[in-house]
Amino acid sequence: MDEKLRIFYELYDRRRSIREYLDREVERDKLARLLTILRRAQSAANRQPWHFIVVEKEGREELNEVFTKEGFRKAPVVIVACAEPGQAWVRKTDHRNYAWVDVAIAVTEMIGAATAEGLGTCWVAAIDPERVKRILKIPPHIDVVGIITIGYPVKELVREEKNRKPLEEIIHYGRW
Ligand SMILES: Cc1cc2nc3c(=O)[nH]c(=O)nc-3n(C[C@H](O)[C@H](O)[C@H](O)COP(=O)(O)O)c2cc1C
Repeated sequence: MDEKLRIFYELYDRRRSIREYLDREVERDKLARLLTILRRAQSAANRQPWHFIVVEKEGREELNEVFTKEGFRKAPVVIVACAEPGQAWVRKTDHRNYAWVDVAIAVTEMIGAATAEGLGTCWVAAIDPERVKRILKIPPHIDVVGIITIGYPVKELVREEKNRKPLEEIIHYGRW
């Protein structure tokens, strides 16, 4: 396989959820690059119905309380991923609002970039969104989709086998 392709596919073998972080800062330029990936992400009808709140270690005490796992509190950067359904594209046929899908896409793209940068991430959905809204003064019409923790992993990211459903179970050819 072509070297560039190999690097690309290996990225997805290396990415895993990181729940233990080193006490090491994320470089400014790396963080800036991750934020540009969020901005560039695709979204339904290019509505970009999202906001991302970057919260670094300083002043994080109250927000840290929403995490149930100690390791997340040590992440040097967390990004609170928010959806603004009022800005999103809505599918006419069934009135589905795509705000959360769009946010998930942007976050996923950023997680890929973070992995390439040697950073570990974890998507944390198990939080109390209303509490996060109170702490960060997020307006009522905004949804908190999740918090992404970012930092250097305690254990380096290496290629590993994933515990996943077999392809035959999830891929359907031609029809269900
Ligand atoms: C939408 C979403 C929400 C998640 N929420 C949490 C969470 O609240 N706490 C946690 O420890 N991991 C959370 N995870 C991580 C998953 O548990 C993890 O992705 C899954 O077990 C597969 O493992 P891997 O990411 O290491 O490949 C979440 C992942 C996703 C995609």
